[in-house]
Amino acid sequence: IANELVSNNGHLVIGGVDSIELTKKYGTPLYVFDVSEIRSQIRKFKSAFENNDLKYQISYASKAFAIKAIYQVMKQESVHIDVVSGGELYTALQAGFPSSKISFHGNNKTFEELVMAVKNHVGVIIIDNFYEIELLSRILKTDHEKINVMLRLTPGISAHTHKYDQTGQTDSKFGFDVGSGQADKAMKQVLDDPNMHLKGIHAHIGSQIFGTQGFTMLADKMVELAKHFQREFNYWPEVINLGGGFGISYTKDDDPISADEFIGKIANELKKACDNVPEVWIEPGRSIVAPAGYTLYTIGSRKDIPEKISYLSVDGGMGDNIRPALYQAKYEAVVANKMDQPLTQTVHIAGKYCESGDILIDQQRVPDTNPGDILAVLDTGAYGYSMAMNYNRNPRAAVVFVENGQDKLVVKRETYQDLTSLDLDY
Ligand code: LLP
Repeated sequence: IANELVSNNGHLVIGGVDSIELTKKYGTPLYVFDVSEIRSQIRKFKSAFENNDLKYQISYASKAFAIKAIYQVMKQESVHIDVVSGGELYTALQAGFPSSKISFHGNNKTFEELVMAVKNHVGVIIIDNFYEIELLSRILKTDHEKINVMLRLTPGISAHTHKYDQTGQTDSKFGFDVGSGQADKAMKQVLDDPNMHLKGIHAHIGSQIFGTQGFTMLADKMVELAKHFQREFNYWPEVINLGGGFGISYTKDDDPISADEFIGKIANELKKACDNVPEVWIEPGRSIVAPAGYTLYTIGSRKDIPEKISYLSVDGGMGDNIRPALYQAKYEAVVANKMDQPLTQTVHIAGKYCESGDILIDQQRVPDTNPGDILAVLDTGAYGYSMAMNYNRNPRAAVVFVENGQDKLVVKRETYQDLTSLDLDY
């Protein structure tokens, strides 16, 4: 991997810190985030909007990685965030993140979650369905509160990505269908509610999307819808929210879109299609945090099978990264203490969980390895820690932030005592 930094003694360097020193200090498996990469990705999005002279807002989709420290980084970078649960909202508030910059998403927000969002005056609630309109309307009336809302629309565009990662097609659990009159009905109900201020319209077509076509189609569709709402309801959105889903490159085969190219194209479409261009919001999750994340593992056992690819096992796996097992997601890895050694063989990188499907990387080129060597899987910053679990009662890994040669523990490693802390005797 050409662009990973290497020290004189052949060690992978992350954010100016020797990765092997990190494993000595904090143990493995260990998630490491290079915070400067997170900041630089946010700045790329910002400058793309600024270069194209669009009013904008970047709202980090925090489901990708939701811990106090990342909310604090987002606060420092003055961006907005999306949350999708009371738990994410709670974490963001605990981190001191300003509630006015929080958008609350979800296809089945509970009564309690909506009450929590209203009481904390979140910036906007992105309404997904009729039941939610009813619940929210009742809460606002009883609590004498007003709130900003957006409507999540299902634009009928399917993105080319894994089917679990598609959300914009008509047959989706999310949002109001625009083809069947649902969206009009929702629009009317919200506009008629004196306690809701309809700030704009939202759509999200999927995740890990390549190419700009899906997004330009979406921008067109949103303008078409805005014009329809203007004719029907004399309503013009202040904000068009185009969701997230910008693909990143996990392997050499992935060809991600640049923020400049994609935002440039959207700006063109919008300026062509309307005079009064609304503010454009995007909700990137993966593209902000994935490339900044590394997972460090200790290599343990090896199984060689005649005429087959050998299995090289590490001390983590599907519990810290479910994506290969769940989506056949591809990753690349390096042996972090042997960056200067020739790659001599291809192996399967296996996890330690009791599942045949717990294979982190199907085929990876590696140098000659020994137990105790450190494997670094790259680009694991999104949907790794946030989807982590305790299968086989493995404690969840620690998280360390590095920046400018400094390292800081931001999530402690779970202990065996933590694992039983909620269990009760019977
Ligand atoms: N906005 C909305 C409304 C979303 O539903 C999502 C992702 C995003 C933004 C952020 O998408 P991103 O920029 O991160 O692609 N666990 C899956 C991804 C699920 C994405 C769900 N929604 C994975 O690991 O691939």
